Amino acid sequence: MMESMTDLDNLKADLIGQISQSEDLAGLESVRVHALGKQGVVTALLKSLGKMTPEERQEKGPVIHSLRQEVAQGIADRKQALETALLNEKLASETIDLSLPSPKIPKGSLHPVSQVMDELAEIFADLGFAVASGPEIEDEWHNFSALNIPESHPARAMHDTFYFEPQEGAASNGDKGRMLLRTHTSPVQIRTMKGQEPPIRIIAPGRTYRSDSDATHTPMFHQVEGLVIDKGVHLGHLKWTLETFVRAYFERDDIVLRLRPSYFPFTEPSMEVDVGYTLEKGRRIIGGKDPDGWMEILGSGMVHPNVITACGLDPNVWQGFAFGCGIDRLAMLKYGMDDLRAFFDGDLRWLRHFGFAALDVPTLSGGVGA
Ligand code: DAH
Repeated sequence: MMESMTDLDNLKADLIGQISQSEDLAGLESVRVHALGKQGVVTALLKSLGKMTPEERQEKGPVIHSLRQEVAQGIADRKQALETALLNEKLASETIDLSLPSPKIPKGSLHPVSQVMDELAEIFADLGFAVASGPEIEDEWHNFSALNIPESHPARAMHDTFYFEPQEGAASNGDKGRMLLRTHTSPVQIRTMKGQEPPIRIIAPGRTYRSDSDATHTPMFHQVEGLVIDKGVHLGHLKWTLETFVRAYFERDDIVLRLRPSYFPFTEPSMEVDVGYTLEKGRRIIGGKDPDGWMEILGSGMVHPNVITACGLDPNVWQGFAFGCGIDRLAMLKYGMDDLRAFFDGDLRWLRHFGFAALDVPTLSGGVGA
């Protein structure tokens, strides 16, 4: 074990050579075990120091220690270099070219009915209206009786109602207590008046159902109801609100409305509202100060005192106005579809053509019409 100084020099040169020739971390580790491990050659040299004479130890001690030092340092440096090379190799092989087009993913679009509902919510929110909703499966009382349409009223027959089988013992409030698919959004008026204290300002968009089907009627369609209940409300408020709404919706200031006397059981007086259109190359365009013709767009009126009373409010204190409007028709007039049935066919080609991008959120500042 008493190596000469030359042996020690040779050993060092050999180990340093092995270290620098290690091509990978595993190879380097076996050099480390061979030199500095428990049974390693350098470890054995260190152990041999104890058995040396003091003179010999004085001579060889520093040489052996510096050998250990240099070998350990060499291994650490080599390890660092190998690891850096490995990392660089990984980084080089894993680059992402951000300039490539994004992968094609299937895109959905917003149905025009949803888009118009969002537009209505945006327009009416600006006028202080909240959005209310009610069940599509209604009872006779909310859908008819409370709206001043008693059992014997011809309007019941006109609604082509889908009734459910009568439940035994359900009769109440002067009707048979049948459940039905709501024929209009007007029952939301009743639910809102019963459910919250006036003043009330709501719109209620949603699905409605009637047993009717042709190019302009589908068994399921959409309406939006409007209701304002407050003190001192009069027809002027109704007219201004409708004009403001229609102008915002069609995004034109030159819109003229015509209010025609009409009849609804739940309003008195009642009016049907027509919007003026102008003919441009044979097409009807909504708007124009001097209309060529009129198109009916909604029904409205002052809420009938019987309806206010049915909801537990005093009609001598509270008055209001209401309106109801077909959403599908609003969409057709603004976005130029001509067959209502296509709305509900679920045809992707139609949706791609008439649908809206999910991020086309209507805003008054950016334009409600996307
Ligand atoms: N509910 C009516 C319908 O479906 C529409 C309507 C007319 C609603 C006048 C109203 C209104 O609130 O005041 O035909």
